[in-house]
Amino acid sequence: MSVGVSIKRLSRDDGGRYRALMLRAYSEHDTAFTSTFEERAGKPLDWWSKRLADPTTVTLGAFDASDVLIGTVRLETYQRLRERHKVALTAMYVMKDHAGHGIGRRLVEEALQAARRLPDIEIINLTVTADNLAAVRLYSRLGFQAYGREIRAVKTATGHLDKTEMWRPVSADYVAL
Ligand SMILES: CC(C)(COP(=O)(O)OP(=O)(O)OC[C@H]1O[C@@H](n2cnc3c(N)ncnc32)[C@H](O)[C@@H]1OP(=O)(O)O)[C@@H](O)C(=O)NCCC(=O)NCCS
Repeated sequence: MSVGVSIKRLSRDDGGRYRALMLRAYSEHDTAFTSTFEERAGKPLDWWSKRLADPTTVTLGAFDASDVLIGTVRLETYQRLRERHKVALTAMYVMKDHAGHGIGRRLVEEALQAARRLPDIEIINLTVTADNLAAVRLYSRLGFQAYGREIRAVKTATGHLDKTEMWRPVSADYVAL
């Protein structure tokens, strides 16, 4: 279980450990993310710190009892005037050694709570590699519904991958059909 794990918002000062965690995520799960290890390993520490400090985003971290960062999820608000009722859930990751203990669920639940505290946000969207059944199942369990599939959304060295597009209202009252 995820007893002893706490979820906290990350800030500029967490740039170093966030960078290390995400680089591990890209290398452990190459097809789960659109970004690649090579693309992101080249970014300086300041790029990661600024990412965490960006006021249009919220990045949450899961910390174990020894205060080690073991998981993360991110919210990115849409900026165009007519899209400001939406937020995207991105960069979801739980370290392999800690997977299967409910930490991913807690991160998404906390992200939903954080989205409810953002002004005017009504909808939360995400995309997930179509064959990533663990993640699709996690999101489905928490009320996200698939509404589309982008065919050949990303092209990797070994072929194209489709992405499933999912959404849910942020409202706690929402019950998926
Ligand atoms: C997907 C991921 C975030 C799940 O995190 P986790 O902490 O292991 O998930 P939890 O233990 O909280 O499980 C929550 C739900 O997810 C689903 N799930 C998690 N792992 C699963 C697996 N291996 N197979 C099937 N379903 C799985 C289940 O529905 C589970 O709920 P249930 O046990 O009540 O059925 C994690 O495995 C991960 O980081 N994977 C690699 C990166 C990734 O795919 N990120 C998502 C990008 S969109």
